[in-house]
Amino acid sequence: MVAFNLPKNSKVLKGNRFKLSRDVPNKRALEIYRYDPDSSNNPRVDYFEINMHECGPMVLDALIYIKSQIDSSLTFRRSCREGVCGSCSMNIDGTNTLACIKHIKDVKGVVKIYPLPHMKIIKDLVPDLSDAYKQYASVKPWLQSTMPSKSEKEQLQSPEERKEIDGAYECILCFCCSASCPSYWWNGDKYLGPAALLQAYRWISDSRDESSKSRLEFLKDSFKLYRCHTIMNCTNACPKGLNPAQAISRIKSSIANIE
Ligand code: SF4
Ligand code: SF4
Ligand code: FES
Repeated sequence: MVAFNLPKNSKVLKGNRFKLSRDVPNKRALEIYRYDPDSSNNPRVDYFEINMHECGPMVLDALIYIKSQIDSSLTFRRSCREGVCGSCSMNIDGTNTLACIKHIKDVKGVVKIYPLPHMKIIKDLVPDLSDAYKQYASVKPWLQSTMPSKSEKEQLQSPEERKEIDGAYECILCFCCSASCPSYWWNGDKYLGPAALLQAYRWISDSRDESSKSRLEFLKDSFKLYRCHTIMNCTNACPKGLNPAQAISRIKSSIANIE
């Protein structure tokens, strides 16, 4: 039988336990992944009990409560707490989602919270998104038009043309989709992943943009685009209800049409 030996410090250990001093009717328990880059210790999972009478209803509320009342070293990203900034993406109860719009009551049993999977972790629940942002930048996510920038004339779109970017412009770059894509897990250094590709599609389908052809030429690559095997995890994971898998398939069709 094949034996797999994982690096010693990749094993996630049981961590600290923070139990309530007395039982309360509204008790909830959370297990949270912890990783401290300044320590040589392995990552661990800490256990926390909280009284929901003292805490808001969302997973992000619980994290903020724990940080302010129990363990100030707990580290996570958040900003808007309205599901619009994309900062608080993490894996909750086995699914990539936004902590600020995930109700604790929708999770049965212990609420298990991990960072986005298959990303380098900076600390605790904070993934390193540098590569993901470089890939985003590589698709040149801005309008490319020869219209002089000082022109006072608007570049109008018909309602139909404007509708073409529905389902793409709403992306908040939380990367829940890319972190749920098996192709991105294995080839994330070369495959652009669903988040960057949805953004590429957003500009390809914009009637005002004059660079569709060169954008498609850039994407016509066995790794950048064609590592997508239509597994659809990305679409299932998107907390904004977007469909990056469909956008990718439309990019592939557009490339076929220019060939
Ligand atoms: S459809 Fe493509 S991008 Fe989406 S999860 Fe599958 S392989 Fe990844
Ligand atoms: S497509 Fe959805 S999951 Fe992916 S980055 Fe955009 S908002 Fe997040
Ligand atoms: S804090 Fe902005 S999306 Fe959750």
